Order: sequence, then structure tokens, then C-alpha cells
Amino acid sequence: MISVSKKNEVLNQLKSSRKLKKSIGLVPTMGSLHKGHLSLIKKAVLENDIVWVSIFINPTQFNRSSDLENYPRNLQEDLSLLERYSKKVRVFSPSVNEIYGKNMSVTAYDFDLLDKKLEGKYRKNHFNGVATIVSKLLNLFEPRDVYFGEKDFQQVLIIKKLIIIEKLKVNLKICPTVRERNGLALSSRNMLLSAHEKKMASIIYESLIFIKTNFRNKPQHHLIKKVKNSIEKIKNFKVQYLEICDNESLYHYDYKNDNICRAFICVEVNDVRLIDNILLN
Ligand code: PAJ
Repeated sequence: MISVSKKNEVLNQLKSSRKLKKSIGLVPTMGSLHKGHLSLIKKAVLENDIVWVSIFINPTQFNRSSDLENYPRNLQEDLSLLERYSKKVRVFSPSVNEIYGKNMSVTAYDFDLLDKKLEGKYRKNHFNGVATIVSKLLNLFEPRDVYFGEKDFQQVLIIKKLIIIEKLKVNLKICPTVRERNGLALSSRNMLLSAHEKKMASIIYESLIFIKTNFRNKPQHHLIKKVKNSIEKIKNFKVQYLEICDNESLYHYDYKNDNICRAFICVEVNDVRLIDNILLN
């Protein structure tokens, strides 16, 4: 079985990697690994001598205790998957205490609008929690490259900003969203859906494609209303947000200055939040 390194072991292993001038890639995850995570790990393995995968369900980024409690946990399966994957891969799966000690303190960053909109609006302090753990991981591993998925695009923008704020020397690598055959973005949370809900959830990506196809020739509010109505016709499906935003600042998209823009959506299926996004131009 692949070993789960503790912080001291990690420090020793990192020391010897640095001595041997090995390049280090880092893939932060919360586990319950699926093909989306594996696409990040695959790229990291291709580009680095050693790849650290962190598996840590970070309590400070959850604002609802039920969400934290229900978050899927599958460490043994994750480890056997990674063991078969590549000899370059090492796993760091720390305890909460190892990361936070006794006081679970979270840094309050100034992310401008980036942490106030979309996910940030519905999950207060979520991005401070994400940035706090990612900062701790980047400072521990000092990787050359760190890998994130486009599926969580707002998170990518936050990490970009974190790297600037903390003047970190790391290359941020962004990997495309991996989807089910029906278009549903892979997510650890999909495990919490019934087979029927999973099937119906294909409407999320279909809606994004519909917006991409039509956003130039139909008014934004009209498109959004239409999509919202058709999603909410499905039992237990509720659109939490659906917005077209500037691709970098997340400001409200303005047709007049034709900036690059992206549609962002969150659909709640019962208690399960499914997020996705698509580049529009
Ligand atoms: P988690 O949801 O486990 O995701 C880990 C990484 O996998 C993130 O960068 C995410 O964007 C990427 N990912 C998830 N689903 C994907 C998909 N279908 N296609 C491509 N990439 C995908 O995101 C987190 O964990 C946490 O917030 C974390 C950054 C680890 C901090 O706790």
C-alpha cells in the first residue's frame, strides 16, 4: 500500500528531492478521487519528477456542518488507485490537527470581488478557507508546478490572486473539465446523487452549451430565465445562481466592451451543490 506521509516525513522527503534537484508537482485534493482529479495527476506526472497529491477535507472551507459531514470519504480506495497509477506519486493525507493545530484560524484575504460573488455569495468565508489551506500546502511543498481544474474556475481565480498576494514562486497549471458521457462535470459530490438525478443533471452542461450558442443574439436576462425555468421543472432541482461574468474580474459582463466572459452555474439537487462553467467567447 502506498504510504501516507506525515508532515515530518514529507519534510525529509522534500529535503532529499531538493538535494537531487527533482522537480515537484503538487495536486491539492479533498479525495474521493475520480477521473477529473486523475487528469490533473496525469499532467503533473508527465511534467514533474515527483508528484505530491494531498488528500485533505479542509474543514475551514465548509460553511455548513452537514456539507462537511456528508462529504464523501474514501481514503483506502484513493490510495489503492494512486498506488497503481505511477511510481512518481506520493500522498500527503494529514489530520486536521497537523494542519491547523488547536486554533482553526483562517487568513482573511483581500480578493476584491472575486470571493464575494457566485460561490462566495452562498458560501461565506469559503474562499478564505480554500486560500488558507492552499497557502499552507504551497509553503510546505514549495512545488515548481501546482495543478487546478477549470471546473472550479472561481477557485482558479482565487489561487491566481493568492499567488500574487503572497508572492509565491509557483506555476499555476489549469486543466480542462472532465465530464461524464452525458456532459455532467465529474465531482466527488456526484456520488451523493441517485442514478436518476445523475441522469437528469446532464441539463446543467446542456444549459451552458445553450447559453454559449445563443448569448450573442438573445438578451442575457431572457436566456437566464429560460434556462432557469427548464432546470427547475425537474423535481428537486433548484438553480442557486446562473451568471455571465467577466472571465478575470468576475464583474458583471457588459456587452458593450466585449470582454472575454464565462457563464457560471450552481444547481442544488436536494442538498447537493453541483457547479459548472463555460467560456463563452
Ligand atoms: P476537490 O474538489 O477535491 O478538487 C481537487 C482539484 O480537482 C481541484 O483543482 C478541482 O478543480 C479539480 N477537479 C474536480 N473535478 C474536476 C473535473 N471534473 N475535471 C477537472 N478537474 C476537476 O477543489 C478542491 O478539492 C479544494 O477546494 C482544494 C483546492 C483541494 C482545497 O481544499
